[in-house]
Amino acid sequence: MSDGRPHDSTSATSMRTSSGMNGKRVLLVIGGGIAAYKSCELIRLIRKAGGAVTCVLTDGGAQFVTPMSLAALSEEQVYTSLWDLKNETEMGHIQLSREADLIVVCPATADLMAKMTAGIADDLATTLLLATDTQVMAVPAMNVRMWEHAATQRNVAQLREDGVIILHPDKGPMACGEHGEGRLPEPEAVIAEIEHVLDGDGATQSTPLAGKRAIVTAGPTHEPIDPVRYIANRSSGQQGYAIAEALARLGADVTLVSGPVSLETPRGVTRVDVQTAVEMQTAVDAALPADVAILVAAVADWRAEASDRKIKKGESGGPPELELIENPDILAGLGRSEKRPALLIGFAAETDKVVGYAKAKLDRKGCDWIVANDVSGDVMGGAENSVHVITADGVESWTQMPKRDVARKLAERIADALS
Ligand code: CTP
Repeated sequence: MSDGRPHDSTSATSMRTSSGMNGKRVLLVIGGGIAAYKSCELIRLIRKAGGAVTCVLTDGGAQFVTPMSLAALSEEQVYTSLWDLKNETEMGHIQLSREADLIVVCPATADLMAKMTAGIADDLATTLLLATDTQVMAVPAMNVRMWEHAATQRNVAQLREDGVIILHPDKGPMACGEHGEGRLPEPEAVIAEIEHVLDGDGATQSTPLAGKRAIVTAGPTHEPIDPVRYIANRSSGQQGYAIAEALARLGADVTLVSGPVSLETPRGVTRVDVQTAVEMQTAVDAALPADVAILVAAVADWRAEASDRKIKKGESGGPPELELIENPDILAGLGRSEKRPALLIGFAAETDKVVGYAKAKLDRKGCDWIVANDVSGDVMGGAENSVHVITADGVESWTQMPKRDVARKLAERIADALS
């Protein structure tokens, strides 16, 4: 079972990036279901984020993934049996869970959860789950009927009561050919939850924004020139999506009005897709009233009078002349609106005089805060952001950090402001 390598909590160093995972250890218990293959990607993501993973593979899990692949990905010994812990006189199963900051059961099958509920300890995974006082998170994955069965739902409720964090499965087509709830969430969503718990805010499940409505705009807008061409910009949408996610985590009812991006919808967020600035404005108006609106989208300032047929190159004896029309300013419109949210926040992307230009925008657009970011580097599309938060009280400059951390910090500020 072992790849012969000793435990080495520093072995992930070369893959580390700055993250709440840094130096944290996850004990990953892999149950026996087809979704076990996604645990391989989860290991890769945890290590990429700076964490370390120890794998415990159940007999069922070993029917779907091999100890060899898990050892190669985690660069750690993989444990499959109570009896392969080198020295059970040292209570190896207890040691395993003690070293972990979080135990993640993924996939958590109906059978494994039933055993956890009943306190059955008949293999390594169930024994260490019974013997631990480390926080446990279970990520269920199973056939829709198994998930919906009264017995499973009873077990899930009991496990929650026992303090286990249970991620709700996704809905969609299943490996068994059926359709419904029971799919394992994508590894990116699972790692976001893990980071959330390891950051310390998961355990309390605090929802200071429960009952509050939030609107977030994100991404670029595409302004058509003809049926095949459009005006756009480099916005990736990451920062806006992270903010929508962070607000939803704090309990807000979030509508994310998104320009064209290739990002997954954050869990618990209602997403409305738009193409143009005019469509974005309509979608924002339709989502009102709201307690807070955060307009992160890089809205195109101008649009062209779009041709309904493709403009041909040789037609006008040279490049076509594009007459540009000014787009509505959604933020400024909200600032003047009777339905203005109590807290209105704009973003300002600047390449120079960042704070100066942003301060001017605060007044011009009638908002409460402006989050200014310097986009002269690779912020647009990059994973990190360095922002200045400008309010009537002054300017606060935050150190450069991952966009997800900017989002969390901002969401907490919003929760304070609305409380
Ligand atoms: N914004 C908006 N509607 C627009 C343009 C911008 O709602 N038509 C919002 C953005 O979502 C952001 C803020 O206004 O929250 C500032 O956007 P930015 O592009 O930095 O400012 P502009 O108004 O375009 O000003 P400039 O081009 O002079 O920087």
